[in-house]
Amino acid sequence: MARTAMAAVHDGRGTTLDIREVWVADPGPGEVLVRMGASGVCGSDRHVIDGEWHLPTPTVLGHEGAGTVEAVGPGVTDVAPGDSVILSWYYPCRRCRACAAGKAWACTGTRSGECLLPDGTTRLSDERGVVYPYLAVGTMSEYAVVPESAAVRVPSELPMDVASLIGCSITTGVGAVTNNARVPAGASAVVVGCGGVGLAVVMGLVLAGAHPIIAVDTSEEKLAAARSFGATHTVQAGPGTDVAAAVADLTGGGADYAFEVIGRVETIETLPSLLATAGVGVLVGLPPEGARAGIDVLELAEAGKTLIGSNYGGAVPGLDFPRLAGLYLAGRLPLDSLISHRIRLEEVNEAFAAMRAGTRTRSVIVF
Ligand code: APR
Ligand code: ZN
Repeated sequence: MARTAMAAVHDGRGTTLDIREVWVADPGPGEVLVRMGASGVCGSDRHVIDGEWHLPTPTVLGHEGAGTVEAVGPGVTDVAPGDSVILSWYYPCRRCRACAAGKAWACTGTRSGECLLPDGTTRLSDERGVVYPYLAVGTMSEYAVVPESAAVRVPSELPMDVASLIGCSITTGVGAVTNNARVPAGASAVVVGCGGVGLAVVMGLVLAGAHPIIAVDTSEEKLAAARSFGATHTVQAGPGTDVAAAVADLTGGGADYAFEVIGRVETIETLPSLLATAGVGVLVGLPPEGARAGIDVLELAEAGKTLIGSNYGGAVPGLDFPRLAGLYLAGRLPLDSLISHRIRLEEVNEAFAAMRAGTRTRSVIVF
């Protein structure tokens, strides 16, 4: 039986989302209907709304979410009605070479980037026709229909607001440290940009035992948050501040690891200057489509520095989501403190305005 759901819809024009009803069809074979419990408001949603990335429209936004399985389609065996699940915005096809190699984050068979289910359609519509779920999840909606491989079961005692964050920012940030960079204990690290994802990088560095952990942001409020999560030093970026010199002072010549977590070409270009010889720079923030960066390649080569890309924290959702949930439940990841605002779906546009102004740590829509 199809149902309606209130959802935050991007029509491809303007920078505000429309809060309106969409129709949600029953889950097909291999699909799962999820009643959403919470959806985080992430920087990647803003990239779409602000026209930096282009997608089919109309789109139900949101890709950082968790909920409860309401129903399953034919053939689904991984989850059952009543299960708590975190949604993965990059569903693995489970058939390509990357999936076979255990690298779900590099899957080439997924259609999540096209906002399509594996059969090339969606289960959402309105009176004008097809509606697309952002990254095949579309979590800013009361209901979502996702492929079985995008719904990862987690313990039911995990609160929904916290669970939603594991669906993107936490996995992206902690995974960049533990899966991509594999930071060893005692290494020095700098994090440029301390929004929800950057603060998750700080948490990951604390877990890894990095020292010192230097947080850089333009906002003093974000730097205070970074200190509360375990950053040992902070540097406020802005006109007249030489961030590279400050980092060199604090680390005795440059950091072993540097993470860019904003998605700005200008800050990505500064990564090599923050690093010690043989240091590793990690690109976590996602820039606008087509962006190109200029770096001093001779210096990079001579100093033996490495730049690596990090997408979704190099995560295998079926493995990493339950692990991160377990760390939270064991008191090792202070995820509650990351949530600065719990909001209703109708308040999502205010949350994006606050994100553009840099004034909130993380807003989470609670359904
Ligand atoms: N120097 C330092 N910090 C900056 C600068 C700058 N020039 N410009 C912006 N910032 C800070 C902001 O103050 C903010 O704290 O960068 C942070 C960006 O955080 P959010 O906008 O909250 O974004 P977030 O959700 O954390 O995502 C960051 O990661 O996964 C990607 O697509 C996502 O590209 C996005 C990035
Ligand atoms: Zn995200």
